[in-house]
Amino acid sequence: MTKSNKNILRALAGETLKTPPIWVMRQAGRYLPEYRKLRAKAGDFLSLCYNSELAAEVTLQPIERFKLDAAIIFADILLIPQALGSELSFLEGDGPRLSRISNKNDILKLKPANSIHEHLAPIYNTVSLVAEQLSPKVALIGFAGAPWTVATYMIAGKGTKDQGPAHKFLKEDKDSFEMLINLLTEATILYLSKQIDAGAEVIKIFDSWAGSLKGEDFVNYAIIPIKKIITALNKLHPDVPIIAFPREAGLKYIDFANETGANCIAIDHSVDPEWAATNLQIDSCIQGNLNPKHMITGGKALLEETTKILDCFSNGPHIFNLGHGITPDGKPENLQLMIDRIRST
Ligand code: CP3
Repeated sequence: MTKSNKNILRALAGETLKTPPIWVMRQAGRYLPEYRKLRAKAGDFLSLCYNSELAAEVTLQPIERFKLDAAIIFADILLIPQALGSELSFLEGDGPRLSRISNKNDILKLKPANSIHEHLAPIYNTVSLVAEQLSPKVALIGFAGAPWTVATYMIAGKGTKDQGPAHKFLKEDKDSFEMLINLLTEATILYLSKQIDAGAEVIKIFDSWAGSLKGEDFVNYAIIPIKKIITALNKLHPDVPIIAFPREAGLKYIDFANETGANCIAIDHSVDPEWAATNLQIDSCIQGNLNPKHMITGGKALLEETTKILDCFSNGPHIFNLGHGITPDGKPENLQLMIDRIRST
């Protein structure tokens, strides 16, 4: 097999590189003046997601500015619920709003998983447009939300601090809850497979609210659905590596890494990198995990923490990233500082 000349694919294949490849969650976004300009031109966030030409341009903005090792397609994890028939809008400064799933009947009213492609065709088109324009050293990441995380937004109709409505639904009507998880699992496999057909070379699965699942619930609704997605994608596209991010899973990162079959575990910044090097990096690649607050504050602390993470993960495959998305008040010059520190190794 010829070795890829894309560093992120080499790290995902298990190679330890002297300088880890870098990308950043939410790398295309409001902290960049060039994003704010294009976003204003598109009108609102969803119009930007569904305008393939503009979405491709936004996807490439951070690559041009920072020469990152991977581009992540500009879209959102809540486009699947929308494709399944949920009403979706983003209120300025107040996050997403969706039609609420409150009972079995609401789930039965959703469209079947295999009907999503027409609605999501602009996203596949964005993937092809970016794939055509990327430089040969930069890899293209496609993504989706994990079924649990997406379900938490569908059941609450919005973002919540503790995912209370989803936990309550699970407790009161487990069969219907599982029907929703299964529908999302199936739709996610179809969606990600089409992104790969269109040119995505790596897949990332975001389980942003995995940390609120305890005990058996973590196994049943974080590990099992993600394992199903990974198994199905591995069968259809055996060469495409998968990064999974069960955010704030704590000690449960270990079971998750052992059982899902992900090629790389992305860790949040509450995880001690030394612990992660010993327990999670042993036979696979690790991604993470600088605290995104350093993108706001910069300076000596940013440099020290970046160096510590580099040192801890230097004996195995590592993709440098933040522990969660860069926030709108992050400063591009601090991201540059982080990148310069990593590339001076
Ligand atoms: O990382 C990237 O650059 C690729 C694009 C991307 C977006 N959202 C664009 C976006 C990705 C990978 C996501 C994932 C996503 N979306 C997650 C999982 C990762 C995480 O952050 O935990 C979640 C939970 C969502 C749902 C979502 N989308 C919320 C809760 C919000 C509102 C909060 C916020 O940050 O504004 C969004 C909006 C959103 N998604 C924006 C962007 C650039 C901001 C929209 C704008 O321009 O106004």
